[in-house]
Amino acid sequence: MREVTEMDEKDKNSYHWYPGHMTKAVRMMKENMVLIDLVIELADARIPISSRNPDIESLGAGKSRIVLLNKADLADAEYNRLWTDYFKSRGDYVLEINAKSGAGIKAINGLVQEACREKIARDKKRGILNRPVRAMVAGIPNVGKSTFINSFAGRACAKTGNKPGVTKGKQWIRLNKSLELLDTPGILWPKFEDPVAGRNLAFIGSMNDEIIVTEKARYGVKWRGSPAETLEGIADSRGCILKGQKPDIKKASGILLDDFRSGRLGRITLERP
Ligand code: G4P
Repeated sequence: MREVTEMDEKDKNSYHWYPGHMTKAVRMMKENMVLIDLVIELADARIPISSRNPDIESLGAGKSRIVLLNKADLADAEYNRLWTDYFKSRGDYVLEINAKSGAGIKAINGLVQEACREKIARDKKRGILNRPVRAMVAGIPNVGKSTFINSFAGRACAKTGNKPGVTKGKQWIRLNKSLELLDTPGILWPKFEDPVAGRNLAFIGSMNDEIIVTEKARYGVKWRGSPAETLEGIADSRGCILKGQKPDIKKASGILLDDFRSGRLGRITLERP
């Protein structure tokens, strides 16, 4: 649907954010912010706090905002409900969705109208009728922005093309008569300075795996059924054996992480409201 830019590629492949990347992300965000009424913020339902950009509220100041808890299919259903209640109690507009299957997506249109009630009323007062809400999708790398745009826009959508006053190259996808979506999402940095968030992001696969130092679990944990022993068991059963018959803990933990990330271990939420 949209061209993959060089920056997307870099972000996807490394998730390393440098001051230069952050400056560029802020610049693009601010550039797009003047064009839109609504930020559709994607978070990961398994870690709804850690997966949000720390500055999204200030970057999106003055705009309506919807929080979508994406990958809800991979998170615990009960916690999806608790997190939805949590965001609602803070006055946020929130929905749990599965961008991959499209589950929950239909409900977004109604929520957009609610979230932009004031803007719509303001337009009406000024005699502007039926001006579509303009929205931008934003979130950290890998949270599902592209998948969501494709799923939300679907096949029937038509690009509205460049319009005067819109920075060259910006494309709007007309979703229906009351909503237009910028086809390029805002890619924002994760909370990498918070060690707990960093660990959570690493678990879901949003950061370099090197951050999860599985070796740690090998030392100082003596009791039976410890993470270390469990990993040794996985190493044994999967044939991850190093020279000298030592279990390959790194490989075993890689298998465990893959199983968690793909949902093969069941639906697991890592953060509690
Ligand atoms: P981004 O633009 O925010 O960087 O994320 P993108 O859409 O590329 O999605 C990142 C990965 O997350 C993709 O998996 C995508 O399929 C998956 N994904 C997105 N939304 C959901 C969801 O609601 N549920 C689940 N289970 N997965 C989701 P991938 O492995 O990189 O690609 P693919 O093999 O699935 O195509």
